[in-house]
Amino acid sequence: MKGIILAGGTGSRLRPVTLAVCKQLLPVYDKPMVFYPLSVLMLAGIDDILLISTPRDQPLFQHLLGDGSHLGIRIGYAVQDHPGGLPQAFTIGADHMAGERTAMILGDNVFFGEGMGALLTSAMLGRGAVGFCTRVTDPQRYGVVSFGADGKVDKLQEKPVTPLSDWAMTGLYVVDGDAAARGAMLKPSARGEVEMVDLLGSYLAQQRLSMVKIGRGYAWFDAGTHDSLLEASEFVRTVEGRQGLKVACLEEIALRRGFIDLDRFAVLAHDAGDTSYGRYLRAVLAEMREA
Ligand code: TTP
Repeated sequence: MKGIILAGGTGSRLRPVTLAVCKQLLPVYDKPMVFYPLSVLMLAGIDDILLISTPRDQPLFQHLLGDGSHLGIRIGYAVQDHPGGLPQAFTIGADHMAGERTAMILGDNVFFGEGMGALLTSAMLGRGAVGFCTRVTDPQRYGVVSFGADGKVDKLQEKPVTPLSDWAMTGLYVVDGDAAARGAMLKPSARGEVEMVDLLGSYLAQQRLSMVKIGRGYAWFDAGTHDSLLEASEFVRTVEGRQGLKVACLEEIALRRGFIDLDRFAVLAHDAGDTSYGRYLRAVLAEMREA
């Protein structure tokens, strides 16, 4: 199954932190931010992924993730020269998608919750376009979805002054093979970008758009401001500290999803050295060997 991580942008709200390194490589507690969206794709069984970044940051992502083969997946790379809007993920990624259904996730989105992978897998098996939305207290900052009496999507609004609901779109989407052609036809909005609400609106007009409501048992952060970055880090630290289980540990997910076998995992656990991350991998290895 195909996936795209969109990890370009300017990260202007995080300056001066992002003057020399992009947002998606900053740490969220104990690992780089991009591990979190990548983990969501992997949990859903997606193993053929295109990472889109700025030209400046591409070598850093390649250094971090390589071609993905150590995780038993494929990671390819493409650049977005200028942050012209989220639907560009599908025009830049058209060759990668090759007309197939594809999940797209933003590189600064952190999701946490049991069954997140399964939610995405079932959207991958559906039709048309699928968005994932969650209740927020400040819908004015987001793309907002309102629903009709029948529970179906009624309207989409981009950063509305008067939101019709408190359901905000997260940075996770599933689209069909049409998305590249639809994306190429979009006109830039007043702020000079092509907009996701316009792309999804073209599906809505044909009754080919659905939304998954992410419920109470899930946490979602877009780690784009200093406060939300710190909140996401504190959240991950709390969960990992209480449970002794890591969130978004790519090697563990690769093993548990069957992308790699125990022997390959043992090498990764060894290579991680005498770090808390390495010790965690070796504890997982011991547990899996006993099982
Ligand atoms: P934003 O947070 O909206 O933009 P940004 O990352 O440039 O940050 P800022 O607003 O502080 O300047 O973008 C959300 C995510 O989407 C983030 O991971 C960057 C990515 N993105 C792109 O890769 N290309 C784009 O054209 C846009 C608009 C966003």
